Amino acid sequence: MSRSRERVIEVVENSFSESGKVSPEDLLFSYKGILYPATLSSPETLEALKSFETRSDDVFLAGYPKTGTNWLGQMVMDLESTDAKYTEEEMKERINAEKMLEMFPRLEFGDPGIYERMKKLPSRRIIQTHLPPHLLPPSVLQSKAKILVLFRNPKDTAVSYYHFYNNMPLLPSFTSWDEYFAAFMNGKLAWGSYFDHLVEWNKYIDHEGIMMINYEELKEDQVLGMKKIAAFFGFSLSEEDFSRIAEKASFQAMKEKSRETHGKFGDILFRKGVVGNWREFFSKAQSEEMDQKFEDCLGGTKLATKMKYDVYCKVSK
Ligand code: A3P
Repeated sequence: MSRSRERVIEVVENSFSESGKVSPEDLLFSYKGILYPATLSSPETLEALKSFETRSDDVFLAGYPKTGTNWLGQMVMDLESTDAKYTEEEMKERINAEKMLEMFPRLEFGDPGIYERMKKLPSRRIIQTHLPPHLLPPSVLQSKAKILVLFRNPKDTAVSYYHFYNNMPLLPSFTSWDEYFAAFMNGKLAWGSYFDHLVEWNKYIDHEGIMMINYEELKEDQVLGMKKIAAFFGFSLSEEDFSRIAEKASFQAMKEKSRETHGKFGDILFRKGVVGNWREFFSKAQSEEMDQKFEDCLGGTKLATKMKYDVYCKVSK
């Protein structure tokens, strides 16, 4: 998402300063048993979310925090606009409507009035969310709108979220990796349990309007991953388009542009962008505990096979 971000950057940087005035225990609020950042959302917003009206051509991108959702957003935004071939006038209209949101276009962020402003976004809207299926507004799953769900192996997701928690002023810090690890395993983090998300999404794995993709497969072959995404949404692009978009969405390119696209948030967001960084943080016992938890939650499921847990998460013997 590299367009028209100035106002959003301003809003987020203001919330960084605001969060300095908030005590750590008030940085998160709980809604229906799940924690959310208080400077980005509120119980009133999450109540108002129920009234969100889905359009059949909406493009939804879902994923637990730190699974690479900003990367996916960048790719899909470029795939969509290349397919749509918006005129300059149409592009201006889109940018102006996006500015009115005054927030990243994430379903659960903003003030309660954001859903009225979202009605003014021209189609196709690209809407991102960290919410699991049961917390989505009912109209999303009832409509014909397509949902692309992103997964990342739990060990790298945990390490990424640890750094995010400790560097992001909007979230309370942990005093140690071990303390954080327990919170991750118990689902005591913003947006709840990583494992609950997986278990829930796994129930939708054969749903025709839902496609699942992994961070690791995108890392392995970004162009192939984007071709699958384009086919799912019905976008038509040339080989050159795919190469250009892949280059623009490389970790290096996104990191270099991050001050422009994400302001100070960019320094926190673009950390390493690799597969396997967990090996520097997990003890043997923690690694085995997570292997067991993954097996208990997802062992034998189609999603577990798709995620290639053994390849990305097992200690080689
Ligand atoms: P790390 O912390 O492991 O580096 P999200 O966007 O959901 O918050 O996820 C952030 C994670 O995605 C971070 O992981 C970040 O570095 C990684 N990421 C962001 N842009 C990326 C890109 N272009 N290619 C690969 N990884 C990327």
